[in-house]
Amino acid sequence: MLTSVVDVAPEVWISAIKFDESLDSTLDELAEEFLSDSEKSSFSALHHPHRRREWLCARIAGKEAAQSWWAREGTDITTSSVTISSLESGAPVITPAGLSISLAHTTGFAVAAVAAGPVGIDVERADRPVRELERSLTSAEQQECERHGKSPLEVLMAKESAGKSLGIGLAGNPRGFTAECDGSDWWIRTEHHSVRPLRVRIHDHGIHLIAICLQ
Ligand SMILES: CC(C)(COP(=O)(O)OP(=O)(O)OC[C@H]1O[C@@H](n2cnc3c(N)ncnc32)[C@H](O)[C@@H]1OP(=O)(O)O)[C@@H](O)C(=O)NCCC(=O)NCCS
Repeated sequence: MLTSVVDVAPEVWISAIKFDESLDSTLDELAEEFLSDSEKSSFSALHHPHRRREWLCARIAGKEAAQSWWAREGTDITTSSVTISSLESGAPVITPAGLSISLAHTTGFAVAAVAAGPVGIDVERADRPVRELERSLTSAEQQECERHGKSPLEVLMAKESAGKSLGIGLAGNPRGFTAECDGSDWWIRTEHHSVRPLRVRIHDHGIHLIAICLQ
């Protein structure tokens, strides 16, 4: 398990964990070390090895991100005193209160972002095949990708991270979100947040792309 910090902006702290199947031999020890009692009972309800690894690594990343955030503010806390629970919607919530958190995971890689205000994160392997995804884009979004030399993957990631920052995810309908690119950042509009478009920045991180939406 290899932990790192993804430094993108002072307003957000992002921790990332790289892992593989060899983690399975220490998974229960890590759960014992990092999880609170309520988290342990959620963890014990997971059975698929893939899901157990990703779920636990995302929580460890979240706890380390929160610990680093509070250390920067001058408060020392242990990772085991931070609890990450999930609302019925699936959105993660952190205790002690005062920070927003967002989680994402893919095979072998988990990320967590914490910020003072609403935040959404998504991660994907940059080489993920995009042919299937292309079909889920509107023709305007396909044109945006062509015009700015962007991958359709960025559109999906921008929508997911924006939806996570609202606590709704994709709300069962990616087409309920529309994406425009200004050449650098993506701007997401949705009826779930009609006040203003949400800005998403996509960062290269080795073989992964990480999308961040900070409201
Ligand atoms: C949130 C969502 C975009 C995640 O997509 P994904 O590619 O499967 O998974 P990711 O790794 O990117 O993110 C998973 C994390 O998103 C977070 N998440 C889930 N629902 C969330 C929500 N409503 N708001 C904010 N974050 C959410 C969780 O922390 C989850 O990790 P966990 O299950 O380990 O707690 C998707 O599950 C979604 O839209 N959920 C909302 C309900 C819904 O619409 N379901 C039908 C799907 S079409």
